[in-house]
Amino acid sequence: MSDPIIRIEGLTKRFGAVAAVDKVDLDVARGELFALLGGSGCGKTTLLRLLAGFETPDSGRLLIDGHDMTGVPPHLRPINMMFQSYALFPHMNVAENVGYGLRREGVAKVEAATRVAEVLDQVKLSDFATRRPAQLSGGQRQRVALARALVKRPKLLLLDEPLAALDRKLREGTRFELVRLQEQLGLTFVMVTHDQEEAMSMASRLAVMQAGRVVQIGTPHEVYERPASRFVADFIGIANILKIEGGWLALRPEKITLSTERPGLANVIAGKIVDIAYEGDRSLYRIATDGTVMIVSTAPNLSHRRGDLVWLGWAADAGHRLDG
Ligand SMILES: Nc1ncnc2c1ncn2[C@@H]1O[C@H](COP(=O)(O)OP(=O)(O)O)[C@@H](O)[C@H]1O
Ligand SMILES: [Mg+2]
Repeated sequence: MSDPIIRIEGLTKRFGAVAAVDKVDLDVARGELFALLGGSGCGKTTLLRLLAGFETPDSGRLLIDGHDMTGVPPHLRPINMMFQSYALFPHMNVAENVGYGLRREGVAKVEAATRVAEVLDQVKLSDFATRRPAQLSGGQRQRVALARALVKRPKLLLLDEPLAALDRKLREGTRFELVRLQEQLGLTFVMVTHDQEEAMSMASRLAVMQAGRVVQIGTPHEVYERPASRFVADFIGIANILKIEGGWLALRPEKITLSTERPGLANVIAGKIVDIAYEGDRSLYRIATDGTVMIVSTAPNLSHRRGDLVWLGWAADAGHRLDG
């Protein structure tokens, strides 16, 4: 990648015997919404803290905007971080919370007030400037934390599980809001999440992490269609893993045709429906076949019942071969 805003080379951070971040190589381009995705404890927060300068690497190198960050303290990096806990001051109102960092930096009062008003407008909190955090909903508190991170106009914003504290409905709406804001402001976001749906729907590219390592980097489409390993195939969405000569085949549930008549496809097997989960927009079937249970998703079809004998078929190129 030419002229990335972040370049990470062989970055490693150990806590005792645990390599929380293990030889990570990663580039992030300007203007990306880049997601670090992985299960709990895989090193996402540690990698974010290394970027922000709250942790010192044991080895490897980190460049931001072309500058080596070795020895550069957090406040001198062109970065701001939005913490998972939000960390708002309970005794300050919204405007004071958002303006706190500016005042500490010595920004003049009038200019600080203008910038706070501008950013509150961007996150749609102008009418809540004089409220305290306790008088806000969870979604509003999340936006205060975001405003506080944005007001310093960082080139790069790090967000640690920015939506995790919100309930499901709000979380889905807020995804679009965050993406809209990121595009509108032309900033680079690096977002940590354990939620694959969130990463897939928001990120321009993502890195899948496992035990401190980055195991795959790509667009959501690439990672879904061509997972690098069985771990990634299982972690991102649902995958049927079939043993084939010299490896495995990852086959997504929606690539399989379910029918009562034998289909004219390259691969065909017979099975019996053991379970149907109706999800409104689709139905997920568990089908017992000779040797394995396959998961198949289709548009809801009320003519299939549990216990029915059915055919499963898929095209020659429907699966993705896994070597590990
Ligand atoms: N300050 C610390 N001291 C000791 N171990 C830590 C510390 N921070 C993180 N770890 C360990 O490093 C690993 C990665 O943690 P973390 O980066 O918080 O993961 P994630 O954010 O993906 O859940 C875990 O095993 C965790 O227990
Ligand atoms: Mg974390």
